[in-house]
Amino acid sequence: MSGARKVHIRSFGCQMNVYDSHRMADTLAGEGYAETAAAGDADLIILNTCHIREKAAEKVYSELGRMRRLKEAAARDGRRIVVAVAGCVAQAEGAEIIRRAPTVDLVVGSQSFQRLPALLARVERGDAVVDTEFPVEGKFGALKAPSPQATRARGVSAFVTVQEGCDKFCTFCVVPYTRGAELSRPAAEIVAEVARLAEAGVREVTLIGQNVNAYHGVGPGGAPWTLGRLLHRVAEVPGIARLRYTTSHPGDMEASLIAAHRDLAGLMPHLHLPVQSGSDRILAAMNRRHTRAQYLRTIERLRQARPDMAFSSDFIVGFPAESEQDFGATLSLIDEVGFAGAYSFKYSARPGTPAAELDQQVAEDVKSERLQRLQRAIDRQQAAFNARCLGRSFEVLFERTGRYPGQIVGRSPYLQPVQVPGSAASIGEIGTVTITELSANSLFGSLVGKPGAPGSERGPLAGERPRRRDPMPAEPGG
Ligand code: 5AD
Ligand code: SF4
Repeated sequence: MSGARKVHIRSFGCQMNVYDSHRMADTLAGEGYAETAAAGDADLIILNTCHIREKAAEKVYSELGRMRRLKEAAARDGRRIVVAVAGCVAQAEGAEIIRRAPTVDLVVGSQSFQRLPALLARVERGDAVVDTEFPVEGKFGALKAPSPQATRARGVSAFVTVQEGCDKFCTFCVVPYTRGAELSRPAAEIVAEVARLAEAGVREVTLIGQNVNAYHGVGPGGAPWTLGRLLHRVAEVPGIARLRYTTSHPGDMEASLIAAHRDLAGLMPHLHLPVQSGSDRILAAMNRRHTRAQYLRTIERLRQARPDMAFSSDFIVGFPAESEQDFGATLSLIDEVGFAGAYSFKYSARPGTPAAELDQQVAEDVKSERLQRLQRAIDRQQAAFNARCLGRSFEVLFERTGRYPGQIVGRSPYLQPVQVPGSAASIGEIGTVTITELSANSLFGSLVGKPGAPGSERGPLAGERPRRRDPMPAEPGG
């Protein structure tokens, strides 16, 4: 096997695709492939795709047009580039991708990429290959671990998949079809992976899964563990200073997980908790399995457990039959919670999902107008949340050098990027930073000490009571 082959991998969509792309790179490293950032130099290009909304899927086809031109240019130089489509578009569309984009040599679904080396051998023999099976052996056990060098190159904050797939079947969502049924990894396997990352210098781990808080992997004694229990165990891994998890379903925020927010100092006080809508009628039509009141109660319990907790969420506007009154209920829920940020989307009908068949699809211009109003409300809350950080001090994990010399960038406990004057030697360290300036997307500050040094406070929201029903919350996220 030649040691000189190069692979270029591009991830679209969620963090799980980023994780999967790393695992593909690790598996291919064992086959002699080195990663390259330049697609034109590669022998193998993998697009790891997202199917969640129509726009995401269309992006893949426009990118494949670019790949065809690269492939033709390489062929003129007597080089072959193999083009592979992996991930959720591959899973959902299978052979249709090759019909629509004949430049594609290999289609590999989100559950079978551990078979990449064997599939590539078939491509080398000249076949166009499609593999969208859900193999029984499971991919995790079959995947290669990264080298310590690869881990270091990926930075001090890492994702670890603990759970995959979803059994919730929200009526708008393709995930249960593209990622399959819920599957949790055994706790011991996760702890071993985190320990390996920590040994290579990782300081922060985000446990990820499509429905991460439904985690129920087998524990060392044979009984299933909750995510709360798993977080306690992962927090004990030497070197791991910070923990996060995403993405959670509001219906699965069980007691041990809420208690972990009270008991684990390393569990960051920021939670992404998608609600999608504030209207009970729409939540029921979405098959979300929770009401507005239950969501608000969960937020309240989390704030009781950890008073400086900040929240972000996902919203869909223009779900079939959403009235102005339903949309108003979403805006009022936003006011009631006070978010530190959110992602919001126009409803996008996905083929094969129940909501795509519903009558009363909402007109595009209505969706656009509601999206704008919702985003304005969220932007106001996010700006107010950031403004409250001004003059406060909190701990920042430094992740990389900044755009300008002498500047380093890290994340606050609330996931905001924070830029400070400092040296690259501080990357991987946690320092106490006082916030002195704000821009639209970043905080700027100066280093005032190491963790625990005088001047360190718990954060911008510590000890403050959430205020309800403010039209413009004074305590965003708190
Ligand atoms: N249309 C619009 N948004 C969607 N999402 C998932 N499916 C759709 C869809 N069909 C959004 C949800 C989810 C996020 C990852 O993407 O808000 O939480
Ligand atoms: Fe999709 Fe999340 Fe609903 Fe599962 S819980 S179906 S991943 S939106």
